[in-house]
Amino acid sequence: MRIDDIDTPALVLDLDAVEDNIATMANLLAGTGVRLRPHFKTPKCPQVARMQLEAGAIGITVAKLGEAEVLADAGLGPILLANQIVGGPKLSRLVALLRRGVDLTVAVESEHHVRELAAAAREAGVCAAAVIEIDAGMRRCGTAAPAETVRLARLLLDEGVDFRGIMGYEGHMYGQPEPSAREALIHSALEVVRRHVEALAEAGIPPTIVSTSGTASVHIAVREPFVTEVQAGTYVFNDLHNEEFVPGRFRFALTLLTTIIAVKDRYAVADCGMKSLTNEFGPPVSADGRLRAARLSEEHAIIVGEGVGELGPGARVELIPSHGDTTINLHEVYYVRRGGEIVDTWPILAARRFR
Ligand SMILES: Cc1ncc(COP(=O)(O)O)c(C=O)c1O
Repeated sequence: MRIDDIDTPALVLDLDAVEDNIATMANLLAGTGVRLRPHFKTPKCPQVARMQLEAGAIGITVAKLGEAEVLADAGLGPILLANQIVGGPKLSRLVALLRRGVDLTVAVESEHHVRELAAAAREAGVCAAAVIEIDAGMRRCGTAAPAETVRLARLLLDEGVDFRGIMGYEGHMYGQPEPSAREALIHSALEVVRRHVEALAEAGIPPTIVSTSGTASVHIAVREPFVTEVQAGTYVFNDLHNEEFVPGRFRFALTLLTTIIAVKDRYAVADCGMKSLTNEFGPPVSADGRLRAARLSEEHAIIVGEGVGELGPGARVELIPSHGDTTINLHEVYYVRRGGEIVDTWPILAARRFR
């Protein structure tokens, strides 16, 4: 299939760029002792997860049971569910995965989570495994004090749950645009994690897993001897938002292919809107930077920029999303490009698996 034969709007994945990004991350981690368990919230596609595992990832991180189910169906794992699972409908899906023999570790952050998880596992006759989520400063989920983490670890063991360690994600770094202030913030978040690790070690229950960090903080986390693995997700495709934080390190692998449907004096109109593209981190831009989607409505994008005079109806424009994850979530399939050719289509099986 040629790229011109694809109906638009359509997500195009550049396989060379994906491979380069996977290799760049592997090189960043090589020799550090820190392993990669990439977050599935970005690619949402088993073919990509398989490439990451083949390149040395020790498993896959997910945020949702629906993502874990997609991976389990594809026979991929081990899986770290880096989120809180609450309530009967979710726990029954979780124990169903454990019954299937899926190697699944789930996060807990309070006595409520531990007791619910332990009771569901006991009732189903399976063994659950958990990491304790700590709040490394993001003020989302997670234990605050190291003593709380130690108490929960003991409770997990008392309740017969396999205590595997801790996780702390420093996502608040994205709120700090100034690089040196952001570095300081990442260091202090990792310092919080270190205090929890030490408290557990002093209590005689050292964590096996200490999982931290996303794409913009991995380079700092690898210098910390207590970090065992990182959860980076965005690096695999990159997007404009990530590029602001780690400029030049990863290639743009993902574009939205669009068709110009109308041309006016100062702008053109593309056939993509909020139903196929997100702009919460700013306007999507073309690869050469000469065009940008200044405004999105449901099915239209207003394209402006110095290249706009060259566009006519029917012209094809490829836009790099400002946020890949939420754009990908709107689609069914990746058109996989190698050089100028579309060589495959990969279903985005975990798109909209938000339960
Ligand atoms: C808990 C958790 N871990 C890891 C990540 C991955 O971060 P990034 O996509 O910046 O690599 C995220 C991102 O939202 C996250 O919420």
